[in-house]
Formats: sequence, structure tokens, C-alpha cells
Amino acid sequence: MTTRPYVLLSCAMSIDGYIDDATTERLLLSNDDDLDRVDATRAGCDAIMVGAATVRRDDPRLLVRSERRRAERVARGLPPSPVKVTVTGSGDLDPRARFFTAGDGLKLVYCPSGVVDKAREQVGAVSTVVDAGDPATPEAVVADLAGRGVARLMVEGGGSVHRQFLTAGLADELHLVVAPFFVGDGRAPRFVGDGRFPWHPGRRARVVEVRQIGDVVLTRYALSDRCPA
Ligand SMILES: NC(=O)c1ccc[n+]([C@@H]2O[C@H](COP(=O)([O-])OP(=O)(O)OC[C@H]3O[C@@H](n4cnc5c(N)ncnc54)[C@H](OP(=O)(O)O)[C@@H]3O)[C@@H](O)[C@H]2O)c1
Repeated sequence: MTTRPYVLLSCAMSIDGYIDDATTERLLLSNDDDLDRVDATRAGCDAIMVGAATVRRDDPRLLVRSERRRAERVARGLPPSPVKVTVTGSGDLDPRARFFTAGDGLKLVYCPSGVVDKAREQVGAVSTVVDAGDPATPEAVVADLAGRGVARLMVEGGGSVHRQFLTAGLADELHLVVAPFFVGDGRAPRFVGDGRFPWHPGRRARVVEVRQIGDVVLTRYALSDRCPA
């Protein structure tokens, strides 16, 4: 059996736990130095995953930004940026989204069996659509990624995807950045919604690092024994 990829979750939130606001504009939570740290973390991964809602709302490129880091990856025999991964239950993805148009690397779209045909119609020309079962589960996604040689997966959100990896016990490490302001709007999305998480008052996660980066604070949590101290 192939070992499942090491799974690193990355998230930036406000002091009151929101990962965005309720407007149509993208909310900037990180600062430049922290975005550079995220870039370095991306460069160290084989694949980066976001949910379809994030693809639609944020339209992220999900590429390694630093030319030096891209060159270092290529020198190691890797593509300049990690494989891009998303999951959709609706199949409603726009082939003009930057997830698909930015970069020449592999783009993987996981979806439930019944949505494969629709997803292929929508984005089959610009990505590889993969049947992730019925329902599609994070277990199926990581198993398929392992089979494709992905050893290190970075999950960048949103909350729905983070919640599923956390509650399934599929997360090895969490990078949580807290930005120094409040959103204070219950219509905005939070880091994660309700669920039965493996870490609770009776089983506390281990903090492996706390670092101030300009005006934000990064906390790194070990969520499994695979996470080095
Ligand atoms: N601050 C941060 O670090 C950060 C990072 C990323 C995103 N965000 C924010 O997060 C918000 C989006 O979060 P979100 O929780 O609404 O959405 P999300 O996690 O980005 O995506 C959820 C969508 O992914 C698909 N999906 C997830 N799990 C699935 C499964 N098991 N099977 C099939 N499809 C599945 C569904 O797509 P369909 O709708 O197509 O069925 C679902 O609606 C945005 O506001 C974004 O700005 C913040």
C-alpha cells in the first residue's frame, strides 16, 4: 500500500476566526513577509489543494511566485510549481479560472462519480478530472494523489476542505496565521465549521512553533506523529 501524503493545512484568519469577509472583494489577511513564507512552504510541496468555492471566489493562481524557488525545484527535477488540486461536488468550474490558466503543470479536479461527465465537459480540456467515489472523500483524494507520487500535500482551504481533512484525521500539520484585526460579521466564513475533531479539550494538539511575522503571528501545530518537532 502506498503511504498517504504528508498533509499540511495552511490558513490565515482574523482574531475572531474569520478567513474572509462577507463582501465580494478578497480580504487580505497576511502581509508580504508572510505571503513569502507561504510561497516557500508551497515550493516544498508536491501538490496544493483548494476547494472549488475558493477557485470561484478567490481565483488564485496557486503557483510558486519566487523565481529562485521555481528554479530550485526545476534543478531538483520537479515542475516549477506543485500540482494543483481541487474538489467539486457541482462540477461548476470555469476553465478561464486562473487555477486552470496559470502555469503549465498538472491540474487535478476530484469529484463524485455522478459529476465526472459534467466536470469533464466543463474543464476536461484544461485539467484531469478524477472520480473520487460517491461521495467524494478526502481519503479517496489522498489515496489517488499518493498513487501519482505526491508525498507532500498542502491544503490551503477554504473552511469546508480544511474541516474535512481535520475531522477525517488526515492532517499532519497546521500552519495558522492570525491577522491583527476583527471581521465581526457572522455572514463571513470561519476557519472551520462544526465537526468532531480529533483535537479537543481531552486531546490537545502540540504547538511546534510560534513566530511573529511583522504584524501577524504564525502558530504551527503538530497534528500527527509524522510532524517533526
Ligand atoms: N484565509 C485563508 O487562508 C483562506 C484560504 C482559502 C480560502 N479562503 C476563503 O474560504 C472561502 C471558501 O471556503 P468554503 O468553505 O466556502 O469553500 P471551499 O472549501 O473553498 O470549497 C468548498 C467546495 O468544494 C467542493 N467540495 C468540498 N468538499 C467536497 C467533497 N467532499 N466532495 C465534493 N465536493 C467537495 C464543493 O464544491 P462545489 O460547490 O463545486 O460543489 C464545495 O462547495 C472563501 O471566502 C475564501 O476566500 C480563505
